[in-house]
Amino acid sequence: MIKTRKPVIAGNWKMYKTVTEAVAFVSELKLAVGGIGNVEVVVCPPFTALAKVAEALGSTGIGVGAQDVYWEDKGAFTGEISAVMLKEAGCRYVIIGHSERRQFFGETDAFVNQKVKTVLEHGLVPIVCVGELIGERESGITEKVVRLQTEAALAGLTADQAAGLVIAYEPVWAIGTGKTASDADAQQVIGFIRGVVRHLFGAGAAGKVRIQYGGSVKPQNTVGLMEQPDIDGALVGGASLDVESFAGIVKAAAGI
Ligand code: PGA
Repeated sequence: MIKTRKPVIAGNWKMYKTVTEAVAFVSELKLAVGGIGNVEVVVCPPFTALAKVAEALGSTGIGVGAQDVYWEDKGAFTGEISAVMLKEAGCRYVIIGHSERRQFFGETDAFVNQKVKTVLEHGLVPIVCVGELIGERESGITEKVVRLQTEAALAGLTADQAAGLVIAYEPVWAIGTGKTASDADAQQVIGFIRGVVRHLFGAGAAGKVRIQYGGSVKPQNTVGLMEQPDIDGALVGGASLDVESFAGIVKAAAGI
């Protein structure tokens, strides 16, 4: 299927890989996927490895993202990292509002919105995560949950800013569990999210915003997901930690 939006495959490494391991990984990755031009590839290592990974990737076209950010540029905020720091370290993307941050670190929709705005102000690309819990899906309120999360995360943005975002739909019950949403279920919710963006910002932004699926993505299930008209790539956790499986996902998305 021909899509006008370039798919983006991002690896969310979570709290895995030391600096040495991270650099060794990307040295192999660039050989495996270096020449692929029709898919954007991004790796999101822990903060400690960002600068070295960016240096190792150089001008390969493989992008570097952080897994979180704080919304102040600097100050007495022990333990936090600003967008200014991320940018200087070589980041182009920042994952915001991942369900693990919402679940374990008290991240709220209001925090997510502040972080999205800050990241955009600094010229970085937010990868905004939304998704329902299993209980919410079983109660039939998936659409309501992702609509509220999306509206809150994108509050106050311009249509141009919304058009440049990456949104990742990650049903929380599919993360790290081996249970993927079916292609049709993922398409249904992602199409719905695109409709929310259309309602908020118009058809132009809705046609441009890239919406990924995330949750137990592997090389074997990538093609089916990517064939869906509204799915523009994947946010990959576990399978992004191994060069062969991550490269397999990138190649499947590239139609190779
Ligand atoms: P998973 O994680 O691919 O291991 O399910 C996805 C994510 O948390 O972004």
